[in-house]
Amino acid sequence: MCGIVGYHGPRETAAVLIEGLKRLEYRGYDSAGISVLAEDGLKTVKRAGKIKVLQEALQDGLQGRCGIGHTRWATHGEVSEANAHPHMDASGEFSVVHNGIIENCEALRERLQLDGVKFQSQTDSEVIVHLIAKLYRESLEQAVRDTLYMLKGTYGIAVMTSREPGKIVGARYGSPLVLGIGDGEILLASDVTALLAYTRQAVYLQDGEMVIIDDTGYKTRDFHDRIVKKQIELIDWELEQIERLGYRHYMEKEIREQPDAVRRALGGRIDREACSAHLGGLELTPQQLRSIERIRVIAAGTSYHAGMVGGYLIEQIAGIPSFTEIASEIRYRNPVVEPNSLYIAVSQSGETADTLSAMRELRRKGAKVLGMCNVVGSTIARESDGGVYLHSGPEIAVASTKAFTSQLSIFYLLALLFARMHHYSIADGQSFIADLQRIPEQISEILQRSEAIRELAGRYAGYGSMLFLGRGLQYPVALEGALKLKEISYIHAEGCSAAEIKHGPIALVGPDVPCVFLAPDDSLREKSISNMMEVKSRHGRVIAVVTEGDREIEAIADDVIPVPRTSGIMYPFLTVVPLQLFSYYCALERGCDVDQPRNLAKSVTVE
Ligand code: AGP
Repeated sequence: MCGIVGYHGPRETAAVLIEGLKRLEYRGYDSAGISVLAEDGLKTVKRAGKIKVLQEALQDGLQGRCGIGHTRWATHGEVSEANAHPHMDASGEFSVVHNGIIENCEALRERLQLDGVKFQSQTDSEVIVHLIAKLYRESLEQAVRDTLYMLKGTYGIAVMTSREPGKIVGARYGSPLVLGIGDGEILLASDVTALLAYTRQAVYLQDGEMVIIDDTGYKTRDFHDRIVKKQIELIDWELEQIERLGYRHYMEKEIREQPDAVRRALGGRIDREACSAHLGGLELTPQQLRSIERIRVIAAGTSYHAGMVGGYLIEQIAGIPSFTEIASEIRYRNPVVEPNSLYIAVSQSGETADTLSAMRELRRKGAKVLGMCNVVGSTIARESDGGVYLHSGPEIAVASTKAFTSQLSIFYLLALLFARMHHYSIADGQSFIADLQRIPEQISEILQRSEAIRELAGRYAGYGSMLFLGRGLQYPVALEGALKLKEISYIHAEGCSAAEIKHGPIALVGPDVPCVFLAPDDSLREKSISNMMEVKSRHGRVIAVVTEGDREIEAIADDVIPVPRTSGIMYPFLTVVPLQLFSYYCALERGCDVDQPRNLAKSVTVE
C-alpha cells in the first residue's frame, strides 16, 4: 500500500522525508516523490521506480522546513513519473499525497475538466489537489474540509500550499494516519515505522479526523472543524526492531525471530494455577465466554490460514462449532449473525480493508467481534469489541511469517481457555501447556537445520509449479506453504487437502509438479501416506515434512524434512517453519526481491 510521510521541524526536510519513505518501503511500492516548501515556493520531485532513483534526482538537495512524501502502490494508472505522488495543481501552489481509493474520481475529473483543469496523470488522487486549489478561500484546512465532503472512497492525505508556508494538513478516512510528536518537530505518516527514528510519541488519527500542523504545533479537528482531543500514546516498538540487524532480508530475520515471537505471544497468558489461559483484552466475563455457542473467524491471506488452524483446534478440543471465512467473502454475502456467536477478526497489520470492512458489517448486524492484531492502535484493534495483541514485534517483510506462528499461539491459548471451560480436565490442560511451552525451542531446532532446507530449495527452485498437501490441522498449513512459495518466488503453487487431490488436482501430478506433503506423526499420518503413494505411482516427486525418525515415509518420499516430535495438535507450529524457509531459499535461488515481492503490499488497505 502507499506510504505517506510529512515533516515539520528544524532538520533538513528532504532527508527526513527520504528516510521516512525508506522505512515504508516494506509496504510495497513502485514510485516515490516528495514536495518541500522552499524559500521560493513548493518544490516537487518524483520518480518511477525505487527510492534510490528519487534520491539520485535530489542530488542538489531541496532546502525547506516542511514537506510531504509518498511511496505509491499503483491502483489507478500505470507506474510512471506522472502518476507518482505528490500531485500539484496547475499553479504549483498546492501539493497532495494520498493513500486509498477515490471511488467517484471519474465524475469529479469530468467536472474539473469542464472548469478547464488539465490533468497530468491517470490517477484518482489527482482530483484531490485540483479540488483543494479550486475551493481554497481563507485557509488550507477549510479547502481540505470542503474537498473531503465531495470525495467518496478512502483516503489518508497530507496537503501543503505555498500560500501558507509551514503548514501541513492531514486527514483520514479509511487509510491510516499517525502523528509523531518529537522535540520541536512533528511528523505525519501512514504507519509508525516512519516515526521511530525521531520519536515514540504517537497520536493516532481516526476516520473523520484532521490535523493541522504549523509553526505553533498541531491541532486535531473533525471534518466539521470541531476540536478533537487526542491522547499522546507511546509506540511499543523500538527502532532496532525495525532494523535488519545484519540479516540479508527482513523475511529471514522474522523467520528466525519466531521462537521469541511465540514466547512473547504466550508470555503472561498461561495460567498455570488453573491449567488454562489468561487473555486480558477479551472484555468477556467467564459466564459470557461459557455461553458462546459458535465461533467465526474472518481474515485474509496468511491470517486466514492461521484462523483456519485456530478454528479447527477450538472445535476439536473445546467442542465449540467454529468456522473460518475469507473476510472479503463474508462481507458481501449478507451473513446471518446468530445469537451467542463470537467473531474474531485476525489481521497482523490491523488495517486490511477486506477484514476491516467485514468487521464493520458484522458489527452493524450486532455481532461481537474480537480483534487479533499485531500493530497496537491499528484500526481493527481500535474498532473491535475487545481483542488480543500478538506482541510479535514489527513484521516488515511482505511475506508474513512470525505473525502466523504468533497468531497460532493466541488461538491455542483461546482454545485452551474454552476447552478448560468445557470438558478439558486439569491434566489435559497441563499436558497441553507442557507441549505448547516446548514449541519455541523446537522451532529453534528446525531453524538450526536450515542449510538442509536451503540445499533442497536449490534442487526444486527451477520447477514451475508445486502442490502442497495436508489433512486436518495440516491442511491450512499446506495452504500457507503454497502462499509463501508463490508470493515470494513466483513459482505457481496450490495448497490442497491431501484427500482432495483424488478429486481433480492429481491430474496435475507428474515428474514436473513436485508434491510437498505435511505428514507429521498425527492421527492422519497413515492417510497421508496413502495419498503419497497415489502421487508416487504417477511418477510425482514427493517432499515430505515428517516427524524426525519416520523411516517409513523416508523410504517413500524423494526428500524429507524432519521436525521434532510433539503432540498431534501442536504440529502446525513446526511444519510451517520448513515451508517458510523453503520458499525463502527458492526466492533467493530465483533472484527475487524477497522483502518487496512484485505486485504485493504489506498492508492491503484497499479492497
Ligand atoms: C501473507 O504473506 C501476505 N502478505 C498476505 O496474504 C497477508 O497475510 C494478508 O494481506 C493479510 O494481512 P493482515 O494479516 O495484515 O490482515
